[in-house]
Amino acid sequence: MALNLRELQEQALRELADISDNEGLETWRVRYLGRKGALTQVLRSLASLPLEERKALGAEANEAKVVLLQGHVSASGRLRGNLTVLSKEAFDITLPGRPFPLGRLHPITQVIREVCAIFSSLGFQVVEGPEVEWDYYNFEALNIPPEHPARDMFSTFWIDFAGEKGRRMLLRTHTSPMQIRVMEKTAPPVRVVVPGKVFRYEATDATHEAMFHQVEGLAVDRGITMADLKGTLFEFVRLLFGEDRKARFRCTYFPFVEPGVDMAIDCFLCKGQGCRVCGNSGWLEVLGAGMVHPEVLDRVGYDSGVYSGFAFGMGVERLAMLRWGIEDIRLFFQNDIRFLRQF
Ligand code: DAH
Repeated sequence: MALNLRELQEQALRELADISDNEGLETWRVRYLGRKGALTQVLRSLASLPLEERKALGAEANEAKVVLLQGHVSASGRLRGNLTVLSKEAFDITLPGRPFPLGRLHPITQVIREVCAIFSSLGFQVVEGPEVEWDYYNFEALNIPPEHPARDMFSTFWIDFAGEKGRRMLLRTHTSPMQIRVMEKTAPPVRVVVPGKVFRYEATDATHEAMFHQVEGLAVDRGITMADLKGTLFEFVRLLFGEDRKARFRCTYFPFVEPGVDMAIDCFLCKGQGCRVCGNSGWLEVLGAGMVHPEVLDRVGYDSGVYSGFAFGMGVERLAMLRWGIEDIRLFFQNDIRFLRQF
């Protein structure tokens, strides 16, 4: 019997050590310490034993009971401890905080703001205009009458709406119509830049989008010359692309200016030697410009005998692509956060 008791105690303690939840602990308590439990049976059976044996065994059984009760207490303490550990893990105050995702300006917005800031510093006002435009402002007032071949430069999204006398609407193909709107509303001198969206009915590829952005510029006053145009735009290029960039003008045709120029900067990748980025020419075109055509001035009521001016227009996506070495214009409008968060 004595041996049995020790074995019983040992077995009970071994089982107790493996118990990992309260249910298990209760089952264990019933099995060993309950009314019909193993130890209780032993204690009960003492009554039928002779006195000497009863004394010895009784003492041993009571000791075992104390050991098991203590075991029970410390096991339930251990289980409570487990719970504490668990809840500590659920709220681990030692973990670093989760970073809060910060928004930022779209790269195109950044370039637009930078361009406008530069021209503001040169005395230009920033104005905006409608994206849905009349044929008159987008074309006719800019020396591009109906059926004129210059319309081929602009693949146009026409709006299915005709106003009085067959006046047609379209999604503006450039920001130049704002030259007319500004001059109609303001007496000279004017100095404005006009950022905004423009639209072309064109297939999309790495360098073409059906929607993109331009910044237009216009300066009209007495005595404005080509030297003002050149000084202003060379300074702009210096401020946007840095001291080291060379710039050049070449003659080209735009119906609303005379003379018209294409402005290019030397390729920052090959420094003018010729490479893949500049198509082996050594130059990257950044904008169109020219002296405002006298007919345009006269049409809005400015006396072209008194006033002269220059105008320019640049593609914002192109500037951004040059600035960051981006090779596909479509990336700007896919809303892929992995692309956008780089700028
Ligand atoms: N509007 C022209 C285009 O979209 C760009 C341009 C050229 C604007 C010459 C101008 C200018 O103001 O003078 O292609």
